[in-house]
Amino acid sequence: MPRTDIDWSKLGFGFSDVNCHIRYVWKDGAWGEAEFVKDPYITMHIGASCLHYGQECFEGMKAFRQESGRIVIFRPEENAMRMFRTATRCVMPPVPVEMFVEACRKVVAANEEYVPPYGTGGSLYLRPLLIGTGPQIGVAPAHEYTFMVMVMPVGAYYKGGLKPVRAVILDDWDRAAPNGMGDVKVGGNYAASLFAHEKAKHDGWPVELYLDAKTHSFVEEFSTSNFLGIKADGTYVTPDSTSVLPSVTNKSLRQCASDLGWKVECRPIPYGEIREFSEVAACGTAVVVTPVWEITRGGDVIKISDENAVGPHLQKLYDTVQGIQYGTLEDKHGWCREVIV
Ligand code: COI
Repeated sequence: MPRTDIDWSKLGFGFSDVNCHIRYVWKDGAWGEAEFVKDPYITMHIGASCLHYGQECFEGMKAFRQESGRIVIFRPEENAMRMFRTATRCVMPPVPVEMFVEACRKVVAANEEYVPPYGTGGSLYLRPLLIGTGPQIGVAPAHEYTFMVMVMPVGAYYKGGLKPVRAVILDDWDRAAPNGMGDVKVGGNYAASLFAHEKAKHDGWPVELYLDAKTHSFVEEFSTSNFLGIKADGTYVTPDSTSVLPSVTNKSLRQCASDLGWKVECRPIPYGEIREFSEVAACGTAVVVTPVWEITRGGDVIKISDENAVGPHLQKLYDTVQGIQYGTLEDKHGWCREVIV
C-alpha cells in the first residue's frame, strides 16, 4: 500500500529517498548477483572510467499504480534494448534484456509503498544506470562495471502538468554531432546541453530545442525529450535523424496516433516547417507529452498556439498513453509489465 506520510499531490520531478536501489557488478567477464542497497551513496575507485572518460549510460522509465491496485512498468524491454545499444556504443558490457527487466521488477517490488496512489497523477520513476567503475587511466574501456536501478516517486516534470511551455533555439550550442552519440542515452549528451539549458532557463524558456549540428536547418530534439508536430489535418510528424534519441514514448505515441487513424511521418523536418504545425509537443518518459506553444530563434518568434491551450490531438495522445499506463484504457499492444509484490 502507498505510504501515508507523503503528500502525493505535491510531488515534483526530483530525488527522494526510498527503501533501496538494486545493484549488480560485472567483473572477470560476468555479471554478479543482485544486491539491494539502502545507502544512496556509492564507493568507487578514484580512477573509475565513468569519472574520467564518461563511460556511463542511463535510462528513464516509469511504474504506475492502476485503479485495480496492480502495479505495472511501461515497456521495460524497450529501455532494456536501448541501454543494450548504448552500452555497446560505449564499449561497456551490455546488460542482458531479461536481467534488466528483472532488476526493474525487483526494485519496484522492494519499493512498492513509494508507487504513488492511483488518481494522483504520480508514478514511480526508474533510473537504470550503467557505469565503468574499474580504474582506467589510459583511454580504454574499464575492466569493471556497475549496473544499478534507482527509483523515486515523481509528479510532472514541468510545473503544471499538461501546461504548455515556451521553447528557444540557441544557435551557439549543439547537442550532438551527426556521427556522435545523440542516438544513445549517455550522460554526456545532457552535459552538452547544460550550459544552453541554464541560459535558456535564466532568460525565461524552460526548454531549448536543437537543430541538426551540421547545417542548423533541421529540427532535432529538445534537451530533455523528442519533438513532435501535428499538422492541421492531424498528421503526426517527428524528426528522422541519426543524432536524435529513439524515444520509447515517441514510439508509443506514434503507435497510438496510427491506431487512432492518423497519418504518421518520421522524416527530416526543415526549421521553416515548424510554422506549419498547429500543435507541437515535447515527448519523453519524464515529460510525457508537454505542449509547446511558442518557439523563439533570435528575432523569429513562432507562435504555435495560445499560451494555455492544449490542442485536441495532443490532449488525445496524452489521454491515450496515460490511460494505457494507468489501466483505464485497453493495453492492446501488451506494453505494461505487471510487478508482483
Ligand atoms: C526521461 O525522460 O526519462 C529522461 O531520461 C530525460 C531526462 C531529461 C529526465
